[in-house]
Amino acid sequence: MKNSPIKHIGVFTSGGDSPGMNAALYAIAKTAETKGIKVSGIRKGYEGMIDGDIVPLEVHELQKLAHRGGTILKTARSQRFMQLEGRKKALQMLKDNNIDALIAIGGDGTFRGLLAFSEICDIPFIGIPGTIDNDISGTDYTLGFDSAVNTAIENIDKIRDTAESHNRVFIIEVMGRDSGYIGIHSGLTVGADAILIPESGEDFIHLLDKIKDYDNEEAFLVVVSEGDELGAELVASKIKEINPSVDLRITKLGHVQRGGNPSAFDRMLGIRLGVASVDALLKGKKNVMAGILNNQLRLTPFNQVVKQHSINKELQELLKIFGS
Ligand code: F6P
Repeated sequence: MKNSPIKHIGVFTSGGDSPGMNAALYAIAKTAETKGIKVSGIRKGYEGMIDGDIVPLEVHELQKLAHRGGTILKTARSQRFMQLEGRKKALQMLKDNNIDALIAIGGDGTFRGLLAFSEICDIPFIGIPGTIDNDISGTDYTLGFDSAVNTAIENIDKIRDTAESHNRVFIIEVMGRDSGYIGIHSGLTVGADAILIPESGEDFIHLLDKIKDYDNEEAFLVVVSEGDELGAELVASKIKEINPSVDLRITKLGHVQRGGNPSAFDRMLGIRLGVASVDALLKGKKNVMAGILNNQLRLTPFNQVVKQHSINKELQELLKIFGS
């Protein structure tokens, strides 16, 4: 790509951090270095873009940090970038720093931001799906989802030990915002007795059916996605209503699911998507997200990736079999 007009890429992480972001940063810097392109990191997402908080990215430093969770560039959810004024300032900062291409690692909010930015900015943007929620179309898996599920199941397995010892009902709330992906994957793989996710309306009926006959002779684990329409507390009170004899506890796994070193899968995903994003820029692509569909690299326009992501049919079937 000797004739590519791109000389200086700006990269940033935005929205909730997710394990694998640092691996993607390493891959971006490494690929750019081999192509003779300068890369700078924009700190704190869109906030740093507005403030001109821009730092050089060193491949040999990133190499030592690629295995770490979080994001070394820091991240933020920017209110200022939602205003036109903020976006104009960000554009000026990019121009002042001679940045002629952007790679964004984040979730749907990040891509919505880029869509709005593209109305006033003709610099090419490439996105990398980075969120534990796995709620983005155009990729089978988002960066960090696999690690978050692994963290969730490691913790739920521990909860099972104590739940079995006391013959208790545990309601375990997992993250995912409006998506039930973490709920389904963690619930199925820990052998939960019930899995409640926002995308299903029948799951609660199955739970009530089961809990009325529960005899306090073993553990009973309910995995609830945070976006489920009922929520952990209401589910707990309904269970108590139906079967007042249960000894019940609620555990919210919370932000522990966002931290920790990325799994092998997420490190590899970060590396693949990092390389793909630089390649896409050099091929003249713009306003697309690099993702993996059926194990193939794919580029999907931003306006298609921010659509509501649904639970596929196979997973819905699994939920029916194991949730009833
Ligand atoms: O989008 C990632 C996520 O961790 C969601 O699962 C969760 O609802 C949200 O971010 C929490 O956001 P915050 O860290 O701002 O509380």
